[in-house]
Amino acid sequence: MGCCHYYEFTESGDDVFSVDASAIKFGPGSLREVGDDADALGIRRAALFTDAVVGSLEPVRTVIDSLRAAGIDFEVYDRVRVEPTDESFRRASQFATEGRFDGYISVGGGSVMDTCKAANLYATWPADFIAYVNAPIGEARPIPGPVKPHIACPTTSGTGSECTGIAVFDLLAMRAKTGIAARELRPTRAVIDPTCSYSLPPNVVAASGFDVLSHALESYTALPYTMRARPERPRLRPMSQGANPYSDMGCREALRLAGLYLERAVADAGDHEARDGMMFAAMLAGIAFGSSGVHLPHGMSYSVAGMVREFRPVGYPQDEPICPHGMSVIVNAPAAFRFTASASPDRHLDAARLLGVDVRGLTGGDSGEVLAGKLTALMKATGMPNGVGGVGYGEADIPGLVTGAYLQQRLLKNSPRPVDEDSLGIVYRNAMSYW
Ligand SMILES: [Fe+2]
Repeated sequence: MGCCHYYEFTESGDDVFSVDASAIKFGPGSLREVGDDADALGIRRAALFTDAVVGSLEPVRTVIDSLRAAGIDFEVYDRVRVEPTDESFRRASQFATEGRFDGYISVGGGSVMDTCKAANLYATWPADFIAYVNAPIGEARPIPGPVKPHIACPTTSGTGSECTGIAVFDLLAMRAKTGIAARELRPTRAVIDPTCSYSLPPNVVAASGFDVLSHALESYTALPYTMRARPERPRLRPMSQGANPYSDMGCREALRLAGLYLERAVADAGDHEARDGMMFAAMLAGIAFGSSGVHLPHGMSYSVAGMVREFRPVGYPQDEPICPHGMSVIVNAPAAFRFTASASPDRHLDAARLLGVDVRGLTGGDSGEVLAGKLTALMKATGMPNGVGGVGYGEADIPGLVTGAYLQQRLLKNSPRPVDEDSLGIVYRNAMSYW
């Protein structure tokens, strides 16, 4: 890759990147094929994971019909919690253990797919809950071998969880979001039917769309893989390897699609071209960040979501305060990219160009402002909260937000510009409001 300055080899950095991807099926009507897919994977008794809302909707009915048609025995678990916790992961794992399933199917958003990954893991390789959880909160113990086949069917155009080996949850005792990250958790097959997104409310499309956009932006601007230390053994190379030429391909196209379609997909549920485009972008960004990893906006989002007090956005369950994942990410993003731009100005400017900004006559020195400006305009146009303050936080919350974010070392290490607690405080302060 001598042609690409961004990936110049360094003395102690890695020279190799690897690509692991889920098998993918994409298109309207693809959910009708899940039964046959499960049969092809040798699944005879499946656990079907969903949540109480999605469980009563068309996509789950379609999957159930296709499982019946293929003669596959199954049990439904619809008690997945939106924004899962260690407690809800444990309950799901217990269901999976008792059910003696030989395969898993998840139909829903990121919470459903992530819960299914965790249940599959703990039922296949039982251990103390904290064993596989990311360090420093957990022990980050390697998973001993493969888990059971998992077919993941996303119903929102957001998390990209169908293509990653990451399962995110709230650890209740610490009021902190963390996760389990391992190649073994990546679903065997993703089945993506874009018609699932046609009935989503605008606010859900906006929040999940910004998650997609930020996956692509963060993966594109992540520390290059050539600057991450070479692993001691090949299999110790982290899943989040840093930006690499393969992830760049997905990021560029995901950014172009998000620039074209995000506003349109939010404004008009009948604009199927836009909603299909965002679903495809979510998949591309999921593949990209599954190989390169995200950094600062996601690292900062965990405490924004975890410490929420009164925020109850429309389009989401109203029984308890919640800051949906995509919102908790994007409220940090303009300030975060202003901070990281100096580490790779040309990349930040290119990202703005891909999102549709006319960058003629601009230089790398403008890139942080230009990219932040574009993000802010998109947030305003789609009804996102006005920064971290718009979710209900103030100056006095900054130390707590910093403490939560600083725990996310796996993500912070992927930032192109080194981050310490002081700089996190500055970025949160700059993220309080944008307009
Ligand atoms: Fe995300």
